[in-house]
Amino acid sequence: MPRISLKKLHALKSSKVGITAITAYDASFAKFFDNCGVDIILIGDSLGEVIKGEKNTHKVTLDEMIYHTSAVCRSTKSSYLIADIPKESCKSINRLIRDAKKLFRVCKINMLKIEVNSKNIHYLSKLHDEKIPVCCHLGLTPQYVTSRKNFRKYGKYPSERTEIIKNACLAEKLGAKILLLECVSDEVVNRLKAIMKIPIIGIGSGKSCDGQIIVCYDLLGISYNQAPSFLDKKYLLISSFHARLKKYISNVKKFT
Ligand code: KIV
Repeated sequence: MPRISLKKLHALKSSKVGITAITAYDASFAKFFDNCGVDIILIGDSLGEVIKGEKNTHKVTLDEMIYHTSAVCRSTKSSYLIADIPKESCKSINRLIRDAKKLFRVCKINMLKIEVNSKNIHYLSKLHDEKIPVCCHLGLTPQYVTSRKNFRKYGKYPSERTEIIKNACLAEKLGAKILLLECVSDEVVNRLKAIMKIPIIGIGSGKSCDGQIIVCYDLLGISYNQAPSFLDKKYLLISSFHARLKKYISNVKKFT
């Protein structure tokens, strides 16, 4: 079976079938998720925490992303693959383009995810010029978090709401193909759903996004740090991981 295409992800959005996504960092987990029919696998730079045991994602290197992404690419056939560009690659636009091209050259991914804010959103236009397909990550952006206080809901204050909506619309205009919203308020998600054409995947952003993503270790019940407050603890009552993943998939398919 060929990999799921971006067109298929759009078709899921249009038909109001939720898009399922999960992180993976190695061949065995990725193959299992792929076989179970997960639409998107993200090789997230959350590997800085869950694999390397660091306190955040800030020190993840491009070589580490390539190592883990290659394992996921080799072991999967159907899921759409998105890999994070690490924080170190975003120090300059030239380095970003060079590193993004390397990630695509070495690993057979479908898309790159980049954490975006008002200061670096112009990077999207250069990535678009270079024909690099991009998922734009807005809201809580762990690469730019400097204190535990920043782990909160975004979009509760009017100025923050306006900024997220403005950046999301600009990202779509600058060629982003998927929007990922982390810890964004329901109000912002609902406003964006009414105006954006590209699929919106959420984490901690309520049930009305076009799809949901989860860190695989949170679903497994072995969160490296504290389990996120938005994790539905009912999943953890299902003892087989296969049944738990299937439940996650069927729940996400239903709620959009
Ligand atoms: O790195 C990651 O795993 C992520 C998810 C939390 C969306 O960005």
